[in-house]
Amino acid sequence: MKILVFGSLNIDHVYQVDHFVRPGETMASLDLRLFCGGKGLNQSIAFAKSGHKTYHAGAVGAGDSDMLIEMLKKAGVCTEFIRKKEGPSGHAIIQTTPEGENSILLYGGANRRLTREDVDFVLGHFSQGDVLVLQNEINEIPYIMEKAKAAGMRIVLNPSPADESILGLPLGDADYMILNEVEGEVISGVSRSDEEGILSALMGRFPDTRVVLTLGRKGSAYGYQDKVCRQPIYEVKTVDTTGAGDTFTGYFMSSILRGRSVEEALKTASMAAALAVSRSGASSSIPTWSEVEDFENQGG
Ligand code: RIB
Repeated sequence: MKILVFGSLNIDHVYQVDHFVRPGETMASLDLRLFCGGKGLNQSIAFAKSGHKTYHAGAVGAGDSDMLIEMLKKAGVCTEFIRKKEGPSGHAIIQTTPEGENSILLYGGANRRLTREDVDFVLGHFSQGDVLVLQNEINEIPYIMEKAKAAGMRIVLNPSPADESILGLPLGDADYMILNEVEGEVISGVSRSDEEGILSALMGRFPDTRVVLTLGRKGSAYGYQDKVCRQPIYEVKTVDTTGAGDTFTGYFMSSILRGRSVEEALKTASMAAALAVSRSGASSSIPTWSEVEDFENQGG
């Protein structure tokens, strides 16, 4: 069984701010730091740091991507399926507040210049039973899902960020859908404040899909057929929430693929996400499996 994360790679420009810049406001930031990010790259690193051999597929700019490739290699991710394209890599402008909240503005760059030939080449190396992990920051996602499904791959979909394009995806083909309440609202049409309603709407509409709903400070919930279970968060001092959802996704699936129960997987993912929010940056904040075990042994 091979794990393929087909997703974005971004250079994150992280600005420390007192508050998010308002319409019409010009504001000085307190600090700027560059990190490797992108939901795809972060999730690849989460899988690799949790001990799985992981392949990353996607696209970067030919001239500005060394740091992205190096970061993946350093984490042990296989990078041979990353294409280099003309023009810039994707990037994100991220504001973070002293409370650890963030707002993210994306520029897709090379992430959105994948071709069907790129997709065919990559998927030609994977087959029945392999696991495909997708987010919503690259182009050609419907085609990737269609080809992966035809090849018998298992599909893990994190439909993030949520926009109208999500509704055009063959969502019911996902074996696992891992999403937050904002994405849940877009897909289910149920208000983000009604978490129970979102979960039951998604379970009803996608009966073959295991749904994992992340709810920020309210923890997470899992639903599939007649089974529903919940997991609270682990309280830590919040430094930066960027990448916490990606850490959760990687660690939840990693635990499931190790044969752990859903309850154990939710718990491990919550501990990993807690460690991630206690550190700055996206990919740089993702813990290793042994750090998560240490956290558990210290009582969480
Ligand atoms: O989920 C966090 C990520 O979202 C950041 O690393 C940023 O690049 C955006 O993709």
